[in-house]
Amino acid sequence: MKENIVIAIDGPAGAGKSTTAKAVAARLNIRYLDTGAMYRAVAYVAVTENRLGDPEALALSFESRTLEFTGQNPQRLVLDGKDISSEIRTPEISELASQLSAHSPIRKEMVRRQQAMIAEGGVILEGRDATTVIAPQADIKIYMTASLEERAKRRTVEYQDRGTAGDFGAVRAEILQRDHRDITREDSPLQVADSAVIIETGGKSVDEVVDEIVRLAE
Ligand code: DC
Repeated sequence: MKENIVIAIDGPAGAGKSTTAKAVAARLNIRYLDTGAMYRAVAYVAVTENRLGDPEALALSFESRTLEFTGQNPQRLVLDGKDISSEIRTPEISELASQLSAHSPIRKEMVRRQQAMIAEGGVILEGRDATTVIAPQADIKIYMTASLEERAKRRTVEYQDRGTAGDFGAVRAEILQRDHRDITREDSPLQVADSAVIIETGGKSVDEVVDEIVRLAE
């Protein structure tokens, strides 16, 4: 396998992108970049600093912030020296990250950072524009998806494991609304990239999907 390989994955919420990408990163000994966590960090700042009204100023404020991933398994997200890994995993932050990610100044600042983070290669990244905007030149491009029911089921279990309220109906509605926004926004909507391999994860185990991607990489 090429040492500076770039693997990019896109897909809707709950398709299994992060679980799969983390496992592939461990198997291939490459880095993992969770681009969605960065939009969640933006949402976290918007809430904690009461900056909901002005996305442009919010984007500008990120030019002077540090936002770093540290450690592996579990990887942590550190904003200006503070570990915000748990705080960004609530339904409220999910919804707000999706809303704020529709704003071009915010996307521009995140994509600039993400492209710098993957410049050396040896990385698997996942999000909504990984295969289309951040790394259209990636060696492997994947669109990962599953039915709404399946994705809502997985997300409900994830929330429950974290101790966050996870009612199936509410999670299903949240995902449906978020997908719609991520797919219909004007700037960098979620879409299937040219030459992307489509992986339907419904009914497959994590290991099966990981094996499929590892085979492609090798
Ligand atoms: O992958 P996630 O659920 O952590 O992402 C949260 C939100 O961030 C998602 O609803 C849309 C946005 N996002 C984006 O616009 N582009 C990305 N590359 C990753 C996430």
